[in-house]
Amino acid sequence: MTTRFTGIKLGPPIEVFALQKAFVDDSYENKVNLSIGAYRTSEGKPWVLPVVRKVEKSLAADDLQNHEYLPVLGLDAFSEAATSMLLGADSPVIVQGRAFGIQSLSGTGSLRVTAEFLNRVLQYDTFYYSKPSWENHRLVFTNGGFKHAREYTYWDKETRSIDIEGMLSDLRNAPENAVIILHACAHNPTGCDPTPEQWAKIADVIEEKRLFPLFDSAYQGFASGDLDKDAYAVRMFAERGIEFICTQSFAKNFGLYNERVGNIVFVLNDTKELVQAKSQLALIIRGMYSNPPNHGARIVATVLRNPILFEEWKEHIRTMSDRIKEMRIGLQHRLLKLGTPGVWDHIVQQIGLFSYTGLTERQVQHLRNHYHIYMLRSGRVNMCGLNESNLDYVAGAIHETITLLPETRDLHCKC
Ligand SMILES: Cc1ncc(COP(=O)(O)O)c(C=O)c1O
Repeated sequence: MTTRFTGIKLGPPIEVFALQKAFVDDSYENKVNLSIGAYRTSEGKPWVLPVVRKVEKSLAADDLQNHEYLPVLGLDAFSEAATSMLLGADSPVIVQGRAFGIQSLSGTGSLRVTAEFLNRVLQYDTFYYSKPSWENHRLVFTNGGFKHAREYTYWDKETRSIDIEGMLSDLRNAPENAVIILHACAHNPTGCDPTPEQWAKIADVIEEKRLFPLFDSAYQGFASGDLDKDAYAVRMFAERGIEFICTQSFAKNFGLYNERVGNIVFVLNDTKELVQAKSQLALIIRGMYSNPPNHGARIVATVLRNPILFEEWKEHIRTMSDRIKEMRIGLQHRLLKLGTPGVWDHIVQQIGLFSYTGLTERQVQHLRNHYHIYMLRSGRVNMCGLNESNLDYVAGAIHETITLLPETRDLHCKC
């Protein structure tokens, strides 16, 4: 039988999902999954936040809920609450009507819509993403129409910290209107964010060179446990009067990974352009997925708009970020106690879900082959894949691997 589908090239596997599958298929009893970017409890289980469960139950019992289409730009109640959460309820840009949000599909879909808007409507064609970055930025932006993908220096692997001079120099050399993707907090994969002084320098160059900042906010509240602290950079840009877009994901901080809850926040200098911008966004979304799903956005809107539920949720994000911090301390202590070659300060200094361990690709492979411990090739580990039951095992495995394959760069971390 003939088929039109012969000759299709096999695409490369998507590392994080390929690892997840390999982990599930692995029958070894003590296997450990440190790859996928999702929260796990101290029992190694996914966590449905109690406040989410509570709201889900009340929605299920509410006969007024239905399954009608949402508007193309989503639920206003959700977008408004999400925008306030990002910028601060009394932010001048909100009060002056210079900010608005539209609902989209978690972080990835929000970035994809934004890319298409920036490319088709504003006609920007060059974007910069950090080196290294979340591995999907490049694909999303090139699929969104951008012709020129460039990296800016971010990580200095020798010092395990941000190479701020390298970053600023790359930004200074970027062409006008280049879109600069910035991680709002908890940089993925390095776990290392600019300091307030460094953010100020980044903002200076962006303003001076007329670049366009795009914040990717996938971890607000989840990183430090404090919503305001994690929004520092975004709010500073707003205060300085810089126009920007910020994509928000509610996958991690609400544990709503598969509900695809996202918001795109626009901060403009001139409210006259708002209606036109929204009309173009509506066309992009209409031609892409028509309108967003209801369930997750309704949950988030309900929680953010109700002071009691909001406090409950804030307690949950503290629980998650505290557990991650405990695991950082737990791993560092054990490596130090074992006398593992290298300096392990970065494990506790980095923030957010991930640690960029500095393990080499060969060491990562060894950990997988010999100990059934799964992590990304880059040495990025999800800290909450660790728990009291596997910390000794993982620390011991890292210790033995480094002792056998001594390839780490054991220099100091300054972040
Ligand atoms: C930096 C960054 N941006 C965006 C996302 C988007 O995730 P989602 O589409 O699940 O919201 C992630 C998820 O890992 C991320 O780490």
